[in-house]
Amino acid sequence: MLSVARVIERAPVVAPDFAQLRQREFGRLDVEGHAYLDYTGSALYPRSLVAAHASMLSRSILGNPHAENPASLASSACIAEARERVLQFLDADPTEYAVCFTANATAAIGLVAAGYRFGADTPLVLTADNHNSVNGIREYARRAGASVHYLPLDHELRLDSSTLCHSERSQSSYSEQREGSALRVRGLFAYPAQSNFSGVKHPLSLVGDAQSVGYRVLLDAAALVPMTRLSLRDVPADFVALSFYKMFGYPTGVGALVAKRDALAELDRPWFSGGTVEFVSVQNRMHALRSGEEGFEDGTANFLDIAAIPAGLDHLESLGLENIERHATGLALELVDMLGAARHRNGQALTDIHGPKDGLSRGATVAFNVLDDTGAVVPYALVEQAARDARVSVRGGCFCNPGASEAAFRFPAAETMRCLTSAKAEGWSLERFGECMRGYAVGAVRASFGAPSNAWDLRRLMAVVESFAT
Ligand SMILES: Cc1ncc(COP(=O)(O)O)c(C=O)c1O
Repeated sequence: MLSVARVIERAPVVAPDFAQLRQREFGRLDVEGHAYLDYTGSALYPRSLVAAHASMLSRSILGNPHAENPASLASSACIAEARERVLQFLDADPTEYAVCFTANATAAIGLVAAGYRFGADTPLVLTADNHNSVNGIREYARRAGASVHYLPLDHELRLDSSTLCHSERSQSSYSEQREGSALRVRGLFAYPAQSNFSGVKHPLSLVGDAQSVGYRVLLDAAALVPMTRLSLRDVPADFVALSFYKMFGYPTGVGALVAKRDALAELDRPWFSGGTVEFVSVQNRMHALRSGEEGFEDGTANFLDIAAIPAGLDHLESLGLENIERHATGLALELVDMLGAARHRNGQALTDIHGPKDGLSRGATVAFNVLDDTGAVVPYALVEQAARDARVSVRGGCFCNPGASEAAFRFPAAETMRCLTSAKAEGWSLERFGECMRGYAVGAVRASFGAPSNAWDLRRLMAVVESFAT
């Protein structure tokens, strides 16, 4: 049966007037003549959210939460409310899940990476599409002698379904079990719910699939949750990482690791610090970690900014995530169509779009390269420069996602190895690497949409792209 909270949360919200929302909350965009299209980088903060936080702070007396005085208790109450609201937002059972506040999604992932008990029988499985903050887990795995495996991508930058084999014998799937053995290996499988490179939404069913063969699952939800509902009752990931500025723009410096309590208890914290211990004895070199989330929140929590989280979640809920998603993804698909139709006078395509060209299981992020009239890639930095000159904020490069980039740019592995090795030996520079990889894109342009976006932003970006047509 659905809980009351769940029914309320799922009640449909009437679609807001996005033009009015832009005027009311993001009017500074039009005052500045700024076409902001980097919502996967960061959402923009609504004016009222900052004003409400400033007003709350000006009325409150909030102290360090590691005490029992009234100012401290007021901060602890704000943190407790924020934890509860995050769990509600993710439709998570509070008896099953805990919320550890961190500095950002990266720090949340780092807690799992540093504490996971990797070893010869506890491998790490990643997807080629992953942010570097997830790729980096492999260094902890490597040090512990664990094997590391990557699931590849197909031509649309989706997970290659031919390798998502559930056979117990598969070498390339995450069911890395010994041939013929019924041993259930407790490895870690980490993947993004949505790609920050291509906008692809990877199947959430992988969470259950991986768990069914004995894996804990770390779901990087940083790019998904700003406009797609994630229910941890339906998709019971063991660990979920997110950053709040990606969801509602303010505050920065707060993220969360939302974790199953039993999965959290399995992690082996490599150290202790202020805030995470019940006691420490210097004489006896003993300590006892706090249980649950408090054992993972090093130092003093960012209590003033954490106090702004409930209002940010209210903002999203008041618009309705589904409405934001429909609005932003609609604009992204229009961009895909326009980029796909754009031509040079000789008929040569003006762009190469990376990832899906249709609306199936994709979010509001579009990565592409501009091509010249011979079909050669125009360096992404030139497009970025033209966008900058036109006051259009897009992102250029690889977006901290080397696996999706390698697949999108169709890098031959041996050639990449040769060029990376020589660029590393001579002192790394992207220019040196790009020269060596002549003929290949070494970065793309990424446009991403959010609730404040409109057709004018889209046209401004298209004007930049079309300025390369000959
Ligand atoms: C999918 C994904 N995961 C993780 C991160 C890291 O987030 P943060 O830099 O907030 O720690 C990002 C940032 O862009 C991201 O897009």
